[in-house]
Amino acid sequence: MYTFTNRFISNDKNAEFLKSAMMGPNAMRVAEELASHLDINKNMRILDLGCGCGLSTLLLVKKYGAFVFAADLWISPTENYERFKSVGIDDKAIPISVDATKGLPFANGYFDLLFTVDAYHYFGDTAEMLPSLIPFVKKGGCIAVAIPGLKYEFGKNVPDEMKPFWDDEVARTIHSIAWWKDLWSKAEGIDIVDISEMNCCKQAWDEWLTCPNPYAVSDIKMMEAEGGKYFNLIRLIAKVI
Ligand SMILES: C[S@@+](CC[C@H](N)C(=O)[O-])C[C@H]1O[C@@H](n2cnc3c(N)ncnc32)[C@H](O)[C@@H]1O
Repeated sequence: MYTFTNRFISNDKNAEFLKSAMMGPNAMRVAEELASHLDINKNMRILDLGCGCGLSTLLLVKKYGAFVFAADLWISPTENYERFKSVGIDDKAIPISVDATKGLPFANGYFDLLFTVDAYHYFGDTAEMLPSLIPFVKKGGCIAVAIPGLKYEFGKNVPDEMKPFWDDEVARTIHSIAWWKDLWSKAEGIDIVDISEMNCCKQAWDEWLTCPNPYAVSDIKMMEAEGGKYFNLIRLIAKVI
């Protein structure tokens, strides 16, 4: 399932590139697993929403030959353009700055697929967000999300070992499959295809924790405390009808 990522990472120069571009659990691996549940081809126009440094974009362009709008809030289009040129995908990856909470600058029905890795939880936790995104995807197209989540809702009962890491922002964004299912089942204009736990959680996190990025270094303590008991990665796939 991870043939592209494993081959990419086996090259030392690529492995360094990957480490410098990761912003959380290895987005290339997570994207490859999410993509394996979809029918992606080179004729598709994809919105990679919250692409960060574009590791998921790289996977979608290089593995599938798709045409990708790489949209992000925190990472500038100029930075991503330079990175895309360095890996030879700038002809098929269009970097663009967006804030998903402020509306997207695209035509209705423009995308075959809205794809988002380790980003949707930051902006998608409201009843309004999914309905606001659906119009940008063609009928018959898909919305595919991979996000960090919880094996069960903590609510007010945050386990003692997780309390040092549990602030309001984490509590707002990190939820269980049941929580996301409940939110998505309220949206009209989609059929939910699949909401499940992903397989690459441990490996993608382990790869992130090897990065020199200060956020990765500070996540080491959290992942030691978590010890495989509470976190998962969640896949949400819906078809636009
Ligand atoms: C943890 S980073 C992950 C980036 C990348 N997808 C990856 O996995 O490496 C979360 C990303 O979500 C994006 N993001 C957060 N809020 C957003 C919003 N309102 N609109 C668009 N992107 C947003 C940020 O810009 C950031 O790059």
